[in-house]
Amino acid sequence: MKHFITLADLPHLAQTLDLAMALKKNPSQWDGLGKGKTLGLLFFNPSLRTRLSTQKAAQNLGLPTMVMNFSQESWALEFEDGTKMSGLRSEHVKEAAAVVSQYCDMIAIRAFASLSDKEKDEAEIVLRSFAKYASVPIINMESATGHPLQALADALTLAEHKTLHKPKVVLSWAPHPKALPHAVGNSFVKMMEHQDAEFVITNPKGYELDPRITKDIPVIHNQEEALKNADFVYAKNWCSYSNYGSILRTDDEWMLTADKMKLTNNAKFMHCLPVRRNIVVADGVLDNSNSLVIEQANNRTYAAQAVLKTIIDHV
Ligand code: CP
Repeated sequence: MKHFITLADLPHLAQTLDLAMALKKNPSQWDGLGKGKTLGLLFFNPSLRTRLSTQKAAQNLGLPTMVMNFSQESWALEFEDGTKMSGLRSEHVKEAAAVVSQYCDMIAIRAFASLSDKEKDEAEIVLRSFAKYASVPIINMESATGHPLQALADALTLAEHKTLHKPKVVLSWAPHPKALPHAVGNSFVKMMEHQDAEFVITNPKGYELDPRITKDIPVIHNQEEALKNADFVYAKNWCSYSNYGSILRTDDEWMLTADKMKLTNNAKFMHCLPVRRNIVVADGVLDNSNSLVIEQANNRTYAAQAVLKTIIDHV
């Protein structure tokens, strides 16, 4: 594995999950692996979990980190080739990626979708430019279209809590006042391709994810119908994909409530966090013992550690 930009870059997802589980049991078993190497963490957007869990993962491997809030602390980057740089952008990614590659043996990057230009977002300009001009592996800490480290942590959480051979897993759209990206939903769907589960997506009409990603997964527009007999409910907001970047409704009809959870098979509740209480999900669901959101965040460390170890083993 050269880069970790999507889940498909993993040689074996199941083996990576096994490794993450082993690391969770004994996080410091390879604490000398990162000696003499450096991981750079570049953030073009805010983060709590991704930043701290990836740093913790590196720490467990004895891998020093350098963190930069790129959008605030560095020069504004130009990504277009052949452009006359007379505007506000002071440095081209060609130089920036090459320079950071001299300080770091791996570069992890967070760069969200603009949600204003679908074509540019889908081209993953920031991550793909770094991958093109850096001489070291690039790791996705949430890009325009995917959040594979989150999906790996979610897979680990599902594996730890499933009691049935083939559980019913429901990915439910939920309301939010801001337009949010599709990255978490996309990567969760891609991860579910590797699970033995009855998987359904429920969202209001107009909020379908990219059909090239959801393919033939059932999409049910009646949330209560979809929730029936669910073993896991994963709530997440995303903006409209077809009407790219738009918020089509702001009512709370799709908020996950304790009454809706009664329709399920005593389902575990999942969300990647951060979550807006009583907008996305009611307090009664989030504070219930069936909520796995804190465990999901804990599993981010071991998912990241498994990916970092896999990359170090291959470079
Ligand atoms: N779930 C997640 O990626 O959290 P942060 O945005 O806080 O990193």
